[in-house]
Amino acid sequence: MTSLTAHLPSPLIEGMRSARNAGLWAISPVDTAWRKVRGLNPLPPIPLRRHAGRASIFEAAALQMSDAITRLDLLKPDSVVLDAGCGCGAMALQWENSMGPNFRYIGFDVHELSIEWCRKHFRNDARFSFEFADVESSYGSSTVPLSEFNFPVESGSIDFELAKSLFTHLEPHETKYYLAQTRRVLAPGGKALLTAFLFDDTDPNFVTPAFPFGDPNLPVRWRLQARPAAAIAYGREYFTQLVEDAGLKVVQIEASYWPGNDAVPLGQDYVIVTPA
Ligand SMILES: C[S@@+](CC[C@H](N)C(=O)[O-])C[C@H]1O[C@@H](n2cnc3c(N)ncnc32)[C@H](O)[C@@H]1O
Repeated sequence: MTSLTAHLPSPLIEGMRSARNAGLWAISPVDTAWRKVRGLNPLPPIPLRRHAGRASIFEAAALQMSDAITRLDLLKPDSVVLDAGCGCGAMALQWENSMGPNFRYIGFDVHELSIEWCRKHFRNDARFSFEFADVESSYGSSTVPLSEFNFPVESGSIDFELAKSLFTHLEPHETKYYLAQTRRVLAPGGKALLTAFLFDDTDPNFVTPAFPFGDPNLPVRWRLQARPAAAIAYGREYFTQLVEDAGLKVVQIEASYWPGNDAVPLGQDYVIVTPA
């Protein structure tokens, strides 16, 4: 059975999001001041952290990802890194003090306020740059069509691309386009770590309780009926096919959500890809 929230109409969902954001902006100065008093590292304002996921685990989730990237040997202190859908810089904050002088990081996101905060925070560190992705998305305000957008880096220039919780918000036409862009920007031998919710699409009767709504023609499912981009899951075979169609190949899948029958998704799958 699906929850009531899952069926809410789009204007109501948007209204609830706006109200929540207004509340979070109102309490944000208190949080900033409190962190300062306690001598804690400055973090982006709560609404920006919330835009990127659960605000309470903002640092813990980034640390977990950073540890996984180290364990999977995807990053060197002098790597050129692209952070696709970087939000308000959770990963950049992780790498700020641990990477070498030749480390280069480019993050991009459709959420202008997040990019503004990152630019301000990293203004004195030339290793880090942040670009506003001027492209149509329900997570931003641009109306520029996808076909006019390119990842903001040269072809073949990226050693490691991270897309943390990005493909979990992209619809199939966006996923295809972003995979093609990933292929374009990766250097020979470069790798990308894409996180995703993957389910078993080899069994037509497979049930995905956390993603009750589905595309009748594709193995793609989502959580909120009126807002697919809120959380999207892909059939694993289908996602692998999209990766291959983009001229990439899957090096490894580290399962977390897979096979996709958890009532609440606790983790995302890691899909590591490289140019085919
Ligand atoms: C769940 S958040 C994750 C943010 C960041 N990767 C992190 O882990 O903190 C998803 C991010 O993707 C961004 N996003 C959504 N659609 C996008 C698109 N088409 N291009 C770039 N960024 C996008 C959102 O604005 C949001 O910041």
